Amino acid sequence: MKRTIAVIRGDGIGPEIVAQALLVLNKIAALYGHEFTYTDVDMGGCAIDKWGDPLPQTELDKCLASDSVLLGAVGGPKWNDVPGPMRPEKGLLRLRAGMGVYSNNRPAKIWPQLASASPLKQEIVDKGIDFIIVRELIGGIYFGKHETVYEGGEQTAIDELRYSESEIRRIGRIGFETAQKRGKRLCSVEKSNVLDSSRLWKTVMHELAAEYPDVQLSDMLVDNCAMQIVKDPSQFDVIVTENMFGDILSDEASMIIGSIGMIPSSSLGEGSRGLYEPIHGSAPDIAGKDIANPIGTILAAAMMLRFSFDLPKEADAIENAVSKVLDAGYRTGDIMAPNCKQVGCTEMGRLILENLQ
Ligand code: IPM
Ligand code: MG
Repeated sequence: MKRTIAVIRGDGIGPEIVAQALLVLNKIAALYGHEFTYTDVDMGGCAIDKWGDPLPQTELDKCLASDSVLLGAVGGPKWNDVPGPMRPEKGLLRLRAGMGVYSNNRPAKIWPQLASASPLKQEIVDKGIDFIIVRELIGGIYFGKHETVYEGGEQTAIDELRYSESEIRRIGRIGFETAQKRGKRLCSVEKSNVLDSSRLWKTVMHELAAEYPDVQLSDMLVDNCAMQIVKDPSQFDVIVTENMFGDILSDEASMIIGSIGMIPSSSLGEGSRGLYEPIHGSAPDIAGKDIANPIGTILAAAMMLRFSFDLPKEADAIENAVSKVLDAGYRTGDIMAPNCKQVGCTEMGRLILENLQ
């Protein structure tokens, strides 16, 4: 199979972790007879420095011309004071919108080898943690009007949150379909006791439920959901929620499985082109030290093979290699545990390559 991949290394630890994921993809290509070609794309702080824009149109076009996109991470303190529309994160939001990837899938599954890295009590972890957050990605408050105005002699900041029925319906369908392929339980998370957008969300989810009689739909308020994720995460199979709630809950979910460094994500719209990235940020404090955990990005590459290129065997091979390295007791600093061997980013990548077959 021949595929083109746009590669966004980004800022901070982005280049280090992406380098390891590319080595893994190259080995998969060699082992299974595929040809992956890469196009480098500038986005985020490095694009601001080079082009004065976090995602110039030429760079977005490269992504739209490729079969899929692999991303490290963007942002950092260097660009903290640039105006809102020019921030590195704005490049990421424009990429998501430009690619039309409305559905973001973030798996929270505990690796048995990392059970002790979870901050939750052992008896809670033992009940099992294996759920997916389906997050709406190109609507809601992230994409409403943002403005700061002077009123009565002081500044007032306004962020608009809007959702249309069709936006809710298309992400709702992804939620139901994801649940159909798993445990058939879908929890719709909103704040319908306060927000109109959430009341519409809930109504649309219940309309859709009629089309998916095999899926059991439940509703949960987002504040309660934040609590339930630490109280008893085993109750969840698939969570479907709006953009900002999904952003917050997915960081919480990553923590209970041990480390945010372990979670990949896929973002898909219509068609097979996707955006694949770890859910963590650019971690500027540890950038360039060769200590970052590359596993989230390597697993994101596996997701790309599975969901965009329909190569499940190859994706399994990568996940198995990660599992073997964890079995052998190798850990990066973020998941380090007693009696394990601490390794850096490059060495973790090398070990995964060595175990890939
Ligand atoms: C994420 C990140 C982004 C988001 C930031 C970097 C804009 O936190 O992917 O979860 O809020 O979506
Ligand atoms: Mg986030």
